[in-house]
Amino acid sequence: MTSQKKKGRVFSGARPTGRQHLGNYLGAIKNYVALQDEYEECIYCIVDIHALTTVDTTKELKNNTYEMALDWLAAGLRPDDSIIFVQSHVPEVAELHTFLSMVTPLGKLTDLPTFKEKIRYQPQNINYGLVGYPVLMAADIALYKAIVVPVGVDQAPHIEFTREVVRSFNYHYNTNVLIEPQMKATKVPKVLGIDGENKMSKSLGNHIELASSPQETQQRVMQMVTDPQRARRADPGNPDVCNVFTMHRIFSSEEEVETINVECRKAGIGCVDCKKMFAKNLNEHLAPFRARRAKLAEKPDDVWGVLDDGGKRARAIAGQTIAEVKEAIGLP
Ligand code: TRP
Repeated sequence: MTSQKKKGRVFSGARPTGRQHLGNYLGAIKNYVALQDEYEECIYCIVDIHALTTVDTTKELKNNTYEMALDWLAAGLRPDDSIIFVQSHVPEVAELHTFLSMVTPLGKLTDLPTFKEKIRYQPQNINYGLVGYPVLMAADIALYKAIVVPVGVDQAPHIEFTREVVRSFNYHYNTNVLIEPQMKATKVPKVLGIDGENKMSKSLGNHIELASSPQETQQRVMQMVTDPQRARRADPGNPDVCNVFTMHRIFSSEEEVETINVECRKAGIGCVDCKKMFAKNLNEHLAPFRARRAKLAEKPDDVWGVLDDGGKRARAIAGQTIAEVKEAIGLP
């Protein structure tokens, strides 16, 4: 199979948010794992510097990085194939960020919808780093000359910005050292939280953690909001508006999905039983992941070792790019 892999580098990054949830898994991690078989080289980065733009305490940063790495490895990222590393371990990214900032019109950054949304969340902390967030992200990607960037659609403006800033840099310094990446939008169903209303997210507390015990998972699943119109067991339900049904479609067999689709509509199955079925299937699906995770967690030093090694491999590439960039700029 190796010979059939596509050439070129894949790069993606995620902020260290600690233990990962179903939304992270379906929206990113699953895709990261699959891309390892499709492309020759994949680089996955835990973007701890980006995290500093929004957190007010860094107390949890190390542990969140560790927990996220554990989940990534347990889910199937292979350190022998992929480079898995921590952003701050490669200081060259800060250098490239600075160089790219010189060809970035400030207005472009303040116009970005992602920036506007962030300042709505933290009007008391509109820091310089927050404005420069997309420049740092562009530096992440450009530093490794990645051609494919798998991200959710919410990141589209950042990828477009990256392409523009790469073009500006190359034009301004009359070079072609940096490469314009392509976005690879992850096609995933919108993963809602247990509230059945908002996107699953740790900050909203509506998430289901991958690493939870089967019992905890079942408890969380039982809290899931179903079709709000279905108040009583005897009422017919509508799977089309039910988040539990959406999850069944991902984790349950075709027969089960079909049964629920029919029975829910005529009150043949109740929400409690429907959720129990989902919890069981989810736990079965996650069992191998959880076993691998427990095994990895026995040796935390090895997990840090993977990140350490990834950092070294990343730095080798980064150093090369920075040398070319400085040369192109004409720095003495
Ligand atoms: N901005 C991305 C997010 O919030 C995270 C990120 C940082 C990233 N650097 C990146 C994603 C480089 C892809 C490539 O999800």
